[in-house]
Amino acid sequence: MTSVDDALRLVWPAELRTDRLHLRPVTTDDSPLVRQLLTDATVRAHLGGPASEERVAARQTTYPTTAGAWTVVRAADDQPVGLVTIGPDHRCEGAAEISYQLLPSAWGKGLGREAVAAAVSWWTEAAPKGGPMVAVTQAANAGSRRLLESIGMTLVDEFEEYGQPQCLYTPAGDQEDTDLRWARLIAERVDTAERRRGAQARATAMGQELPDNLTALSDGDLAQLCPDRHGAYGRICARTAGHLPDLHLGRAPDGAWIAWLTSDGLEDT
Ligand SMILES: CC(C)(COP(=O)(O)OP(=O)(O)OC[C@H]1O[C@@H](n2cnc3c(N)ncnc32)[C@H](O)[C@@H]1OP(=O)(O)O)[C@@H](O)C(=O)NCCC(=O)NCCS
Repeated sequence: MTSVDDALRLVWPAELRTDRLHLRPVTTDDSPLVRQLLTDATVRAHLGGPASEERVAARQTTYPTTAGAWTVVRAADDQPVGLVTIGPDHRCEGAAEISYQLLPSAWGKGLGREAVAAAVSWWTEAAPKGGPMVAVTQAANAGSRRLLESIGMTLVDEFEEYGQPQCLYTPAGDQEDTDLRWARLIAERVDTAERRRGAQARATAMGQELPDNLTALSDGDLAQLCPDRHGAYGRICARTAGHLPDLHLGRAPDGAWIAWLTSDGLEDT
């Protein structure tokens, strides 16, 4: 699987049009919009509060050269009203995170869902080799959660980050596409070194004695990797039973990503 940045570079610049919006790459002329969004207390209510001057300046510089950063322009009056970005998810290497923010004057008209739905569909169609898409929003951000659910995204994980409960959504519209992306991500990104790191950090005493080559392990060995609910082997739980559906991702109590693989998935690893 290509990295999210590589996948974006292949298909960037991209312009998207919906009934009421035009999404086009951010330019330096959008600096006032970027400032407004990053410093508005209402917009930033669930995003850690207004950003510092340094952060504003950095974003004003980087957005125009960042593949995956769109300005959302209202078609009716050609006014920039927000930003939508797709970029690497810092929590899970290989996954793509979508973020979005509109000026409060544009809220409540369905423009957010129109913009985000267009960007999610674009990712599926334009970057089929790109990583699986996620959207993370604070649990308390009810409007954002309604937006994601209204465009067919599914809540797949809840965890704490930046001291706040967070909800992680992934597209459920085209399940086959989503599953394929997760499967590729796991097969290609979770390498032996990562398993070793996970094993050393978190494996049980019995699990630590086991070799890294999961395919060589017996069912009995595998069960030792996951004596409790899951996750004793760090990022990979290779338990062969009791995990449904066949392949899915989740997060261990300490926040690390983990994947459940059945014996079928194991053979591909
Ligand atoms: C999250 C955010 C983008 C939502 O923007 P939005 O345009 O108001 O969101 P929606 O598109 O869901 O529309 C909101 C409401 O307009 C309604 N609406 C009005 N006219 C509509 C139309 N023509 N079509 C569809 N919905 C319409 C919707 O039903 C929806 O109501 P609901 O929230 O009660 O379900 C915006 O609140 C925001 O920028 N927040 C700050 C940044 C942020 O928190 N981002 C999320 C984390 S990355």
